[in-house]
Amino acid sequence: MIIVESIKEAKEIIREKKRRGLKIGFVPTMGCLHLGHISLIEKARKLSDYVVVSIFVNPTQFGPNEDYDKYPRTFEQDKIMCEIHNVSMIFHPSVQEMYPQNFSTFVEVTGQISQVLCGAKREGHFRGVATVVSKLFNIVEPDVAIFGQKDAQQAFIIKKMVKELDFPIEIVVSETVREEDGLAMSSRNNYLSKEERAIAPLIKKALDEAEEAFKKGETKAEILKKKVEQIINSSPLFKIDYVEIVDTENFNPVDEVSSESLLAVAAFLGKTRLIDNLILKK
Ligand code: PAJ
Repeated sequence: MIIVESIKEAKEIIREKKRRGLKIGFVPTMGCLHLGHISLIEKARKLSDYVVVSIFVNPTQFGPNEDYDKYPRTFEQDKIMCEIHNVSMIFHPSVQEMYPQNFSTFVEVTGQISQVLCGAKREGHFRGVATVVSKLFNIVEPDVAIFGQKDAQQAFIIKKMVKELDFPIEIVVSETVREEDGLAMSSRNNYLSKEERAIAPLIKKALDEAEEAFKKGETKAEILKKKVEQIINSSPLFKIDYVEIVDTENFNPVDEVSSESLLAVAAFLGKTRLIDNLILKK
């Protein structure tokens, strides 16, 4: 496994692999790797010959009052995990390398998909994500890139971006990996106090109960959302940011769940913002 910090060097090495006919698999991350990330790496390994993992806490996707400064940085541990899971290259650039002084070109995400859920609550977030992922795609030139269903809106946005900007890259979305009690794995789970951690699985429980009601025939979004809200609000420690059901085709909020829809939740436990989701389909 090699660790590369320079864009130029990463490009040279990857171009050489491509000339030799190797298929490049790519997993972009912000580090503090957990089994969710590892599942994406495993998938990339199955789908390609040379797996690149990027570890870069991307400043442009954090809002001014968000957790960029305290986001966990655990590079030594991440390195070991990548080594164990046969990653070929870690791309670990500095902020200066990715965003030199006077950097001023961004990939703007517009339209309905950018205006709901996390797009509505985290201004500029998806602009930062689309910009850094575009840069990373141009550096790594992967044949296939793997994203997690955990960040469903992000995965939809990246798929749309790849189609609309003609990146010759296959995007694979991989299912959410959970702790035993159902909590979706996340680098941000590290922020939770013992008390918060104990009730965090309520989010998944709420999603499951809504899904069960849906399977039993309840299609009214209002009722399904209420169910989720009631369960999460059963703990006073939670503060819901949003509970929303949107059509996966166009990201319009739905009244009746009739086509494939995304039930998505964001909720604060103290200062920690957790997200989770599931797809409702008949
Ligand atoms: P990060 O939060 O580190 O996540 C990297 C990838 O891991 C994303 O595709 C995310 O959806 C996936 N992931 C996170 N938790 C997961 C889980 N429990 N199960 C399965 N997959 C999971 O998402 C980002 O970084 C950034 O926005 C990035 C795309 C790297 C751009 O900066």
